[in-house]
Amino acid sequence: MAASVNIVEALPAHDDAIAAVTRASFQGSDEVELIHRLRDAGLVVLSLVALKEDDIVGHILFSRLHVSVDSREIHAVSLAPMSLSPKLQGKGIGSALIREALQRLPKLGCEAVIVLGHPGYYPRFGFSAALAAKFESPYPREAFMALELVPGILTGNSGTLSYPKAFGLGTHS
Ligand SMILES: CC(C)(COP(=O)(O)OP(=O)(O)OC[C@H]1O[C@@H](n2cnc3c(N)ncnc32)[C@H](O)[C@@H]1OP(=O)(O)O)[C@@H](O)C(=O)NCCC(=O)NCCS
Repeated sequence: MAASVNIVEALPAHDDAIAAVTRASFQGSDEVELIHRLRDAGLVVLSLVALKEDDIVGHILFSRLHVSVDSREIHAVSLAPMSLSPKLQGKGIGSALIREALQRLPKLGCEAVIVLGHPGYYPRFGFSAALAAKFESPYPREAFMALELVPGILTGNSGTLSYPKAFGLGTHS
């Protein structure tokens, strides 16, 4: 059962608190910089915060990603980063953020979600490494997972996926 939080769309006024939660949960600034680069590049599709009273205790961000299957372009997003205030981890707030986002993303035209994440965490929401197997992965295979928001949208023989420059991976579009 999730600790009682409100989940709302992130506002510019939340930027500093999002940076603080992200820095605390990842114990560093790399993910804060990723958020800034994604925003600057205009790639953010959905950014949600979890509010406990007036405090931001969690954040999740989805950004546009180039994905195609059998030469068909897919409206895909990348889930990254996601952060929970260290004191409030393991209380279901992260799960609530993901579930709320998965409700909202189809309404924004999104058809699939790609994540690099803990293989013990994301499959419970429907993410699957097998579904991502047709894409070349810049990351370890078992941590590279996909979820279909439109059933069957990733079905096909071959797929291509490229992370935008904001991810700093070297190969990008
Ligand atoms: C990972 C994270 C976002 C999950 O959010 P959360 O609110 O703590 O998670 P929930 O309470 O919804 O879910 C708890 C479950 O997640 C699992 N979990 C949390 N962190 C995990 C990790 N690093 N690896 C595997 N599972 C993890 C817990 O074991 C627990 O599993 P259970 O339900 O089987 O007991 C959060 O712990 C966090 O911010 N971690 C540090 C930053 C990070 O790793 N971000 C994600 C990058 S993929």
